[in-house]
Amino acid sequence: MIKVAPSVLSADFSKLEEELKKIEDGGADMVHLDIMDGHFVPNITFGAPVIKKLRKVTDVPFDVHLMIEKPERYIEDFVDAGADIITVHQEASVHLHRTIQQIKSYGIKAAVALNPSTPLGEIEYVLDQLDMVLIMTVNPGFGGQSLIDSMENKVRKLKKMIDEKGLNIDIQVDGGIKLDNLKEVVDWGANVIVAGSAIFGSEDATEATRRFKTVD
Ligand code: DX5
Ligand code: ZN
Repeated sequence: MIKVAPSVLSADFSKLEEELKKIEDGGADMVHLDIMDGHFVPNITFGAPVIKKLRKVTDVPFDVHLMIEKPERYIEDFVDAGADIITVHQEASVHLHRTIQQIKSYGIKAAVALNPSTPLGEIEYVLDQLDMVLIMTVNPGFGGQSLIDSMENKVRKLKKMIDEKGLNIDIQVDGGIKLDNLKEVVDWGANVIVAGSAIFGSEDATEATRRFKTVD
């Protein structure tokens, strides 16, 4: 069974509470919150204070994707704000093993994201510490981009790596996922699907969330 994580990056920021209700009604498994710092990626989005307010209006788990340099500086803030899963980028944290332990020390789930150009080998020695790996299927920083086809091999390889080691780790994909390529990424081995523009850019975000969940 796949999990769907709508990304609020494409939501209407002037009415986030309503937007969250829509995906909650559609059965969203988590809310994907994209944090951008203008350094690691060109864009700037929002920070922990916004998440803290949103925490009061929904019970759907918060999946916080940190696209920020040296994320270890802000883990505590995002935990306090109500994160249930924190994802850091391998490319942004020099002492990655330590950062993962830091996240787990708060009793929440830890995940690592890889940019499209980053090889899987970079997480080989921390894989057993992770709850989830995020394979970026676009270069991070913007919603509405097209999925990079060569990520198929990467997701398949990761799935094999996880199975061979007998681990129980979610594989999340993020970027360019639409209803028409959803089945494809699920076949590759992904089981947590992020979708921004395909859900919040659609006419009916509730129905779109529902349809994402009913892939066979
Ligand atoms: C991109 C973000 C994504 C973004 C995906 O850097 O990490 O979560 O919202 O947007 P779509 O689904 O429109 O490609
Ligand atoms: Zn994201």
